[in-house]
Amino acid sequence: VSLLSQIGAGPIPSIAGEPPVAHPLHRPIDIYRAFVADILARVAGCETPVVYESLQIPSNPVNGDLVLPVPRLRIKVKKPAEQCAEFAAAFPDNHPLFQKPVAAGIHLPFFFAPLSLPRLVLPYIFLRQQSYGNDPDVGLRNHAAPDQGRKKVILEFSSPNIAKEFHAGHLRSTIIGAFIARLYETMGWDVVKVNYLGDWGKQFGLLAVGWQRFGSEEELAREPLKHLLDVYARINKAFSPEQEESKKARDEGRDTAEIESRGLFAERNAFFSRMEAGDQEAMALWRRFRDISIDRYIATYARLNIDFDEYSGESQVNKATIERVESILREKGIYEQDKGSWVIDFEKLGSKGLGIAVVRGRTGATTYLLRDVAAILDREEKYAFDKMIYVVSTEQDLYFRRVFRTVELLGRPDLAARLQHVNFGKVIGMSSRLGNVQLLSDILDQSREAMHDVMRRNEVKYAQVDDPDAVAEKVGISAVMVQDMSGKRINNYPFDINRMTSFEGDTGPYLQYCHARLNSILRKAGLTKQDLVDHLENRPDGLDANVLGDKSHATDLLRLMAQYPDVTAMALKTLEPSTILTYLFRLAHQLSSCYDVLQVVGAEGGRDVMVARAALYEGARLVLERGMRLLGLDPVER
Ligand code: ARG
Repeated sequence: VSLLSQIGAGPIPSIAGEPPVAHPLHRPIDIYRAFVADILARVAGCETPVVYESLQIPSNPVNGDLVLPVPRLRIKVKKPAEQCAEFAAAFPDNHPLFQKPVAAGIHLPFFFAPLSLPRLVLPYIFLRQQSYGNDPDVGLRNHAAPDQGRKKVILEFSSPNIAKEFHAGHLRSTIIGAFIARLYETMGWDVVKVNYLGDWGKQFGLLAVGWQRFGSEEELAREPLKHLLDVYARINKAFSPEQEESKKARDEGRDTAEIESRGLFAERNAFFSRMEAGDQEAMALWRRFRDISIDRYIATYARLNIDFDEYSGESQVNKATIERVESILREKGIYEQDKGSWVIDFEKLGSKGLGIAVVRGRTGATTYLLRDVAAILDREEKYAFDKMIYVVSTEQDLYFRRVFRTVELLGRPDLAARLQHVNFGKVIGMSSRLGNVQLLSDILDQSREAMHDVMRRNEVKYAQVDDPDAVAEKVGISAVMVQDMSGKRINNYPFDINRMTSFEGDTGPYLQYCHARLNSILRKAGLTKQDLVDHLENRPDGLDANVLGDKSHATDLLRLMAQYPDVTAMALKTLEPSTILTYLFRLAHQLSSCYDVLQVVGAEGGRDVMVARAALYEGARLVLERGMRLLGLDPVER
C-alpha cells in the first residue's frame, strides 16, 4: 500500500473469487491486472474476474506488458473492435501504473508506466528476497482458514534398479522430478519425495545366484554399486543362452515350462521364491544389497542437492494389499486365468489400445504392474495424498495407462483421478559420448572433468578461481542439467558434451557465468546489500528511470523481472522445466545488453546513479538465483 501511494495509486482493487483469483502479494503483475480489471469491468458492465482472467502476457514485449483480446470477454452487444476503442477511450490518461492504452483492432495492449517499475516492482522484489516467485497460497486447502492444512503431493522419481545401470532415463527422471518437487514446495504444497527402487523381482534371484559364484566381500566393501553391477553382468551373460532358448521356444509356439524348470532358470526362480516366501537367509542377503545401494545413492544424490523422504521400492509393497487387489479383481470378474497366469484383458473391458497384461505370472510371482497398483493403495492409506506424480520415461506410457486403468477397475476412479504420469523422451548417445558410465556418480564425475578441461583453457580466469574443483563440480552439473531441461520434456535430445560445457549459447555454464558476473557488481562497486536497501527505503525518487539512465534498457529489464512469479505459476501448469529456463535465458540476454549502457562503476551522475543501478542488477541477480535454484542449479559466486 505504501509503495502504491508513493506513486499516487490507491489500494489494490479486490477481485472476487474463491479460491482467490488474483495473488497481488505474490505476483506483481497481478497488481496491474487488478487495476485494469477494476476499471474495465465497470466500463464493460461485467464482473472483474472475467476481465482479470482474459488478460494475457504477450510473448513479445513490444506488444505490451499485458494485452486484452476483447473477444475473450464474450460481450455480445458490441463488435469487439468497437468495444476495444471504447475501453481505450475510457481508460484514464494519467494512471500511475499505466501508459494510456491505444487500441489495436480487437486487442487492447497495456504498457506499464515506466516510473512504476523501479518504484513498485524493484522494492517488491527486494522486500520478498528468497520468496520472490513463491506462492504459498496455491497449496492451501482452505483459503478462508489457512491453518487448516495444505495439499499434499507425492512425487515419485529417479527410481533406479538395484544392481543395474543408472541410465539416462533415470537421470532425466531425477532432474525433472526434483524440479517438480521444488516447484510444488514453492507453491505451498506438502511434498513427499519417494524413490521407488527396482529392488524386487526375479532378477534378484539371479543376482543372488551370481553372488554365490562371483561375489567378493572385499570388492563389495570397496565399490559396492560397481561390484553388484559386475556380478549381475557376469551371471546375466551365463544366463543368456538359456534365455535365448526359451525365447526361441516361445516364438515357435512351444511350451517353455520345461526349459525354465532347469539350469539357471530354476536356480533363479527358486531363490526368488524363497524371497517371496520371506525366507530369512534369502532376505538377509537381499537386504544387505539394498541397504548398501541406498547408502551410496544418498551420497550421490546429495551432489545434486536432492534428498528423498522415502526410499521405498517394489519390495516394500504390502503383501496383504496385493492380495486385496487380487481379490477385488476376482470378485468383479476382471481377473482371468490364462495358461497358468492371471491377466487383465483391458480391450475386452472397453479400453482400446491397452491390450492384455499379466498381473500374476505363471510361477506365481507378482508382477511390476501388480506391485505398482498395490503401492497406490498403500500410499493412499499412509499419506492421504491429494495428488501423486510419477516421473518416468515415455517408454512406460502404455504401462502407466494400464496401472491407472486398473485402479479405476478396482472401483476407485476417484483415486485414479489423482494420479499423473509426467513423461519425457530419450537422451541419445549418453554412454557413448561420456565413455564408460553406469552409475549416477560416473555421469557426474565425467561432466565435472569435461567442465574442468573447458575451464583450464582460459588460463587467466582459471587462476582467479579459488577452488576450481568445486566450481567444476557445480558448473559441470549445471551443464548436464541445463542441457536436459532446455527443450520440452517429451523431446529426445542428443547428449552433446562440447555444447553443454560451452560458455556460449544457452547453456548451464553461460547461466552460471551470468550469475557470477552479477554477483561481482556489488563487490566491484564497493557497496553492500544494506546500501541498496537503504537507498530503496529512503530515496524512492533515486530509482526513477532517468536516474537509472537509458530508459528502455532498465525498463525492459524490470518488465521482465516482474514476470517471474507468473512464470513459476505457469510452470506449475506445464510441469516443464523449460518454462523456467526459457525465461532465465531471456533475462540473461536482456542483462547482457544492459551492461554497456548501464554501467555501475564509473557511472556518470555520481553515487545516486551508481547505487540505483547496483540495486537494479542485484534485483536481477536475485531473480536469476531464484530461478536457478528452482531448477536445481547451485549458483556460483565467482
Ligand atoms: N525402476 C523402474 C525402471 O527403472 C522405474 C520405476 C517407475 N516407477 C513406478 N512406480 N513404476 O524402469
